[in-house]
Amino acid sequence: MDELNDLARLEREALSALQTATEQASLDAWFGRYLGRKGAVTLAVRRVGSLPKEDRPAYGQAVNQLRKRLEAALAQQGETIKEAALAAEMETGAFDPTLPGRLPNVGRVHLSNRTLREIYDIFRQLGFQIYDAPEVESDEYNFELLNIPAGHPARDMWDTFYTTTPGYLLRTQTSPGQIWAMREYAPEPIRVILPGKCYRYEQVTARSEMMFHQVEGLVVGENITMADLKGTIVAFVRQMFGQERKLRFRFSHFPFTEPSVEVDMDCILCGGKGCRVCKYTGWLEIMGAGMVHPTVLRNAGYDPEHYSGFAFGMGPERIAMMKHGIDDIRYFFSNDVRFLSQF
Ligand code: PHE
Repeated sequence: MDELNDLARLEREALSALQTATEQASLDAWFGRYLGRKGAVTLAVRRVGSLPKEDRPAYGQAVNQLRKRLEAALAQQGETIKEAALAAEMETGAFDPTLPGRLPNVGRVHLSNRTLREIYDIFRQLGFQIYDAPEVESDEYNFELLNIPAGHPARDMWDTFYTTTPGYLLRTQTSPGQIWAMREYAPEPIRVILPGKCYRYEQVTARSEMMFHQVEGLVVGENITMADLKGTIVAFVRQMFGQERKLRFRFSHFPFTEPSVEVDMDCILCGGKGCRVCKYTGWLEIMGAGMVHPTVLRNAGYDPEHYSGFAFGMGPERIAMMKHGIDDIRYFFSNDVRFLSQF
């Protein structure tokens, strides 16, 4: 069959023409000449119709295979050209393979959340559950039920933002969550932490933000004593900051605990000798705590004659500041990636 010889000739011609194509433009021209809509191979395929019936299968198969081989050769030549171009670029120094690659921008967990998760892990080991309480609170929960009646001077410590609904405000502390948890579980025993955002209408400074997190702790049951409070806090602080940490419990006042304490640990930077971070006192204040006030127990449904409890409240941002030597709380929420990406 002469037509098969024509195909063989066409293949030889096409392949040798392909060898001379050394850039993308000539590859495109070559494609048009052989494989395009009016290309030689396309015309050869059409020729099948003009052949005697018995020759058609053999010819058809041959021309199809020819097309496949030429397509493969074209792809191969394309690769060869690309590699040659890259090699030439490396020759001239335009491409420097020793440069470090460009790293993709990967997000990460915010330092506040990271710290919260560390706190959760420690309290989970101590058998605490997480209890979620509202951020928008009533005056009753944020103040009244916590033994801070209207006009009580302690309200000055906790100025906040008010909603347009009278009597509703953004909570100043996670302590109102104590009431929610106790009212849900009374008279069962409770061992929970209450994490979340708090708000204060205050001058924003290096030490105070308008919005920050707190983690409240609450344990209620029979025979809960100050020793349980101290043991729990010591266990937490040593896991968070190191087993060598020393703690100090100072008498303090909160309307919703009695007795109340302020907990200090020896400064992690100077070990208690005194430095800039601890303002030369050797101690860092880490949380407020105390035995749940009988009035609060009663308000929340527990009989203070039979039940007692302890509570504590800490600020994870302040904990992170001590842990990582951060000197300004405003970094947390100003969303500067140069700060955030360090943790
Ligand atoms: N709510 C207190 C504060 O914001 C901290 C605290 C919590 C104190 C629980 C005692 C018991 O300062």
